[in-house]
Amino acid sequence: MVSLNNNSRVLSGMRPTGQLHLGHYHGVLKNWVKLQQEFDCFFFVADWHALTTHYEESHIIAESVWDMVIDWLAAGVNPGSAQLFIQSQVPEHAELHLLLSMVTPLGWLERVPSYKDQQEKLRERDLATYGFLGYPLLQSADILIYGADKVPVGEDQVAHVELTREVARRFNHIYGREAGFEEAAEAAIKKMGKKNAKLFRQLMKRYQEQGEHDAVEVAHALLKEQQNLALSDRERLLGYLEGGGRVILMEPSALLTPASKMPGLDGQKMSKSYNNTISLREDPDAVQEKLRTMPTDPARVRRTDPGNPKVCPVWQLHEVYSNDEVKDWVQEGCTTAGIGCLDCKQPIIEAVLNELKPIQERAREFEQDSGRVRAIINEGSEAARDVARQTLDEVRQVMGLKY
Ligand code: TRP
Ligand code: SF4
Repeated sequence: MVSLNNNSRVLSGMRPTGQLHLGHYHGVLKNWVKLQQEFDCFFFVADWHALTTHYEESHIIAESVWDMVIDWLAAGVNPGSAQLFIQSQVPEHAELHLLLSMVTPLGWLERVPSYKDQQEKLRERDLATYGFLGYPLLQSADILIYGADKVPVGEDQVAHVELTREVARRFNHIYGREAGFEEAAEAAIKKMGKKNAKLFRQLMKRYQEQGEHDAVEVAHALLKEQQNLALSDRERLLGYLEGGGRVILMEPSALLTPASKMPGLDGQKMSKSYNNTISLREDPDAVQEKLRTMPTDPARVRRTDPGNPKVCPVWQLHEVYSNDEVKDWVQEGCTTAGIGCLDCKQPIIEAVLNELKPIQERAREFEQDSGRVRAIINEGSEAARDVARQTLDEVRQVMGLKY
């Protein structure tokens, strides 16, 4: 059987918040680096998203964009395998956002959990804006414009992917039922040749009559294989298969990224707002200093006091960086006061410095060659625009906006 993965497209965005830290690296970037080897990936700087909350400090966004891109590149995100671009360089996102807004019920946006949560969390900002309410829909446009079927997100963003699916479904329902849809779909089936047409009909029946979801997957793969089906026919058949209209916007699914286990220096989640980070471009001496002075088991006051790794932030770092042998050594040494806390931290210091070394070397190269960084983004933005334009052309067409 053909694998669907060959053609799977992944899309993800990150808000420009300045230099990235080890939490971003372990939580997001390592995952992107892996995904870019398997899928057709689009990664973008979500500068408009940042404006929805930071519209009063827009200069921070502009300053952060290049730092963030350099950190992506330094972490191993490869412009040869993924398209890297800036959201606002692809204004097609905005047009799709506008067009989708016409069919999106207000209640769907008001019910997105992050809407109220964020308003409460960011009290100091006035988030009773049109842009903030619409930001999950902007995210839907980001996803749908590339026909991305996989969206790597954290738990907090799953509801946005869910909204995207609903918006796509509604859009397809309203605009996918062109006159003569069934006849066109039947004609498209015939174009696949006798054998495949028969197989397609069987799969359609298995899904529609027995609700077999596997049959849909196999049928999708079959459609992807058909060289002589035009894109529009394929979209018709995708919809016809499930008993609906033509699929103009494809429903994505969330690729849940496991919550990062990367603790900050104080044992809480690593985050700039907790001031407990090690940034990817942190000077090695500062890294050492930060780790040497980070808190340990508070009950272990003297070197001779035994400690308890369970309540120690350093232990959490061992969970990320150390093998079983080192971890056994910590458990034994800590609970018997056999080792001191500085001894205990040494393997972490080495591991973090080792991890950061190649990242920092690459970052330095890119820092010194801002022309190259700009070229990467320009090329990525152009490539993204090509795809985005095609989707938008079709969207305009089915909405009757082709003059
Ligand atoms: N909303 C995401 C965040 O705040 C960023 C984002 C914007 C995104 N558009 C996206 C993520 C599309 C995945 C797909 O982190
Ligand atoms: Fe924490 Fe290690 Fe010190 Fe134990 S020995 S308290 S685990 S730093």
